This record gives sequence, structure tokens and C-alpha cells, in this order.
Amino acid sequence: MERTFAIIKPDAVGKRHAGAIIQRIEDAGFAIRAMRKAWLTKAQAEGFYAVHLGKPFFPSLTEFMSSGPVIVMALEADGAIKKWRDLMGATDPAKAAPGTLRKEFGSSIGENATHGSDAPDTAAFELGYFFAGVDLI
Ligand code: CMP
Repeated sequence: MERTFAIIKPDAVGKRHAGAIIQRIEDAGFAIRAMRKAWLTKAQAEGFYAVHLGKPFFPSLTEFMSSGPVIVMALEADGAIKKWRDLMGATDPAKAAPGTLRKEFGSSIGENATHGSDAPDTAAFELGYFFAGVDLI
């Protein structure tokens, strides 16, 4: 079993799509090992996305991610990292395949409804950024 880290972003939470997205996560067979609502400060968003520091979209990304509440989750499944990225679809909703979450719920490359870890090392960092081991149930 593998774990990955997921965020339902401020756009999707604000549009009341969190419930539908969580249902899709459960229907896909993930176990939700931890979940909570959070409202990130700009500094917390900058720390989380530090890997993107210096990229042109870093200021708008961290501004957006601290603009409203998010839902953070630890998801577990066989091949969870790829499985969650496949369910989300391409980063840009305009390029995401039909049936994916970003196609259905995203509206732009910035406001793309969900986030997921892209590799085992980033999953470990991102899970640890929000959850202690004792929180994973
Ligand atoms: P996410 O999976 O959260 O990882 C980084 C985020 O940066 C990405 O989703 C996008 O929402 C956002 N972003 C904004 N502009 C770009 C861009 N040009 N390329 C990649 N990611 C971008």
C-alpha cells in the first residue's frame, strides 16, 4: 500500500464541490487515512510549494492557495500516487481528460480544484507538512 497527499483547493471548496470530490475518491477505492479543513497563511502556502519558488506562477499560486479554506487528505491505495494523479487529470483543466476531477471541477491552470503529490519523495514531504504519524488512522 502507498500513501499520497491530496488537497481540495479553495476554488472547489468555495463552490461546494468538496463533497462530490470526496465521493469520487471513495468510489475510486482510496482509503482516507486523515482529513481536515485548513486555511493556509501565505507563509504556509509558500513553505508547502517551496519546490516552485522562483517560478513565474509562484506568487499567484501561493496567493490563491491562502485565499480560502482547503481540505487536506492522506490517501492510501495500491499505487496511490499515480492513481490519484490519474483521477485528478492534467494540471490544466483545458487539457484534462473527460471524467477527471480537474476537467469537471477546475476552471484554469491556477484554479484547478485539486493537488496531488507527484512522486514518493514529495508525498513524504507533503504528508509530513500537514499530518503527524499519529493522525493517520
Ligand atoms: P498543483 O498540482 O497544485 O502544483 C502546482 C500548481 O501551480 C499547479 O497545481 C497549478 O495550479 C499551479 N500553476 C499555475 N500556473 C502554472 C503553470 N504555468 N505550470 C504549472 N503549474 C501552474
